[in-house]
Amino acid sequence: MTRTALVTGGNRGIGYEICRQLAAAGHTVILTARDARAGVRAATSLTDQGLDVRAEQLDVSDPASVAECAKRLAAASLDVDVLVNNAAIYTTTSLLRIDEDALMETVQINLVGAWRTARAFVPGMRARRWGRVVNVSTGYAHVGSEAPQAGAYGLTKAGLNALTRMIAAEAGPAVKVNSMSPGWVATRMGGAGAPLSPQEGADTAVWLATLPDDGPTDGFFYERQPIPW
Ligand SMILES: NC(=O)c1ccc[n+]([C@@H]2O[C@H](COP(=O)([O-])OP(=O)(O)OC[C@H]3O[C@@H](n4cnc5c(N)ncnc54)[C@H](OP(=O)(O)O)[C@@H]3O)[C@@H](O)[C@H]2O)c1
Repeated sequence: MTRTALVTGGNRGIGYEICRQLAAAGHTVILTARDARAGVRAATSLTDQGLDVRAEQLDVSDPASVAECAKRLAAASLDVDVLVNNAAIYTTTSLLRIDEDALMETVQINLVGAWRTARAFVPGMRARRWGRVVNVSTGYAHVGSEAPQAGAYGLTKAGLNALTRMIAAEAGPAVKVNSMSPGWVATRMGGAGAPLSPQEGADTAVWLATLPDDGPTDGFFYERQPIPW
């Protein structure tokens, strides 16, 4: 059975690689991007390789954008079976220095954005009794993480991990909802000096997106292994 996977922030970096790997594994992939043209460019580079990828505009910080994307998919009779919440920004100001607008933007994208897409797509998974949700988190999500420069980012990702657990409980056992840390990955966010390739960074997310029915839910993973919240 062909599953449909929606990935946020799919136009570049780890999200693009998750789209590529899921499509190569036989999924219909909805590659979403806040910039519609960037999404079409990225999706075209994958359809050119014979992969089943469709671009959709989706800005996770904009409620109307999420609702309109969901409406277009419903009109096309496309049920989202797999949701990968990958979109994020990396805010490098500490919590005691960051201004309110910058903090709220980070919360809107990294935390509320994932809740918005979950609210849009997880009820359908629950009703169909099958679903996979992957929240792309980070080691900075550990409460007590010693990375003050990433305080605002870490706060939103700690919230994303909490959201994972709460959505897992609400969605029920047929919908596997997990968080993962990709490690330090060479993307625009991670910088060119990072030790991991996007292919390596995407691996655990793709594994969680394709879990068998007896796979884990309500977990936090790095390199396919559970790690503490
Ligand atoms: N790279 C690392 O070392 C690392 C480490 C730990 C965790 N992570 C996590 O891995 C995920 C992917 O990171 P990355 O390294 O691939 O980052 P990236 O190269 O900076 O890509 C981020 C993606 O998120 C998109 N995005 C940002 N705001 C958005 C919004 N409001 N709506 C929709 N899309 C939005 C970006 O779109 P635009 O192109 O429009 O900006 C881009 O596609 C993130 O969740 C990040 O926190 C990365």
